Amino acid sequence: MSFIIAIDGPAAAGKGTLARRIAETYGFHHLDTGLTYRATAKALLDAGLPLDDEAVAEKVALELDLAGLDRTVLSRHEIGEAASKVAVMSKVRRALVLAQQRFATKEPGAVLDGRDIGTVVCPEAPVKLYVTASAEVRARRRHDEMIAAGNAADYETVLSDVKKRDERDMGRADSPLKPAEDAHLLDTSEMSIEAAFQAARHLIDAALKRN
Ligand code: DC
Repeated sequence: MSFIIAIDGPAAAGKGTLARRIAETYGFHHLDTGLTYRATAKALLDAGLPLDDEAVAEKVALELDLAGLDRTVLSRHEIGEAASKVAVMSKVRRALVLAQQRFATKEPGAVLDGRDIGTVVCPEAPVKLYVTASAEVRARRRHDEMIAAGNAADYETVLSDVKKRDERDMGRADSPLKPAEDAHLLDTSEMSIEAAFQAARHLIDAALKRN
């Protein structure tokens, strides 16, 4: 049976970096599940289709090919906004969750990061991490990344976007963002990504020994 590591948390908490590093270290497959919502939203936008027609969005989600997901194309801010709207629809979630669950069976193991991995997609995962940080710290990181990439960015605008995204992700009726009861909390507000990685390693190594 494959070994599953579930990583959840709000936008810009550092879970993507952590997930990639864990996958590399253990030789596991990695899926950023946010990309599946982003790709669904982008396909709708590209085709000029509405973002709030559940039947149309479900069809697009069912046809999604996980092999073709590309973070550089999908990382645009507008696509993230559209993705969080698409992500409130239950039929879209059901289609994408099934694809994510298939991915999770890949041998020898898989790291999935998102919002509902420990609670809905892989509730049986032997390791569940909930990576978080204050909205201010996350906005600061996002802002600095935008500046480093040569883009204009205003901290207050980024902070207000982060808060809006949190509200939408935590407030939706279907699979809201929240830590699983048995998740280990990693607050990266005052912890480097290196320290978070070391903490995660201890938890994973202990779980691998038990398995
Ligand atoms: O992590 P991200 O910014 O790429 O996610 C984009 C949107 O997709 C986010 O607003 C919430 C949604 N999402 C979700 O509902 N469930 C997941 N497992 C991953 C992302």
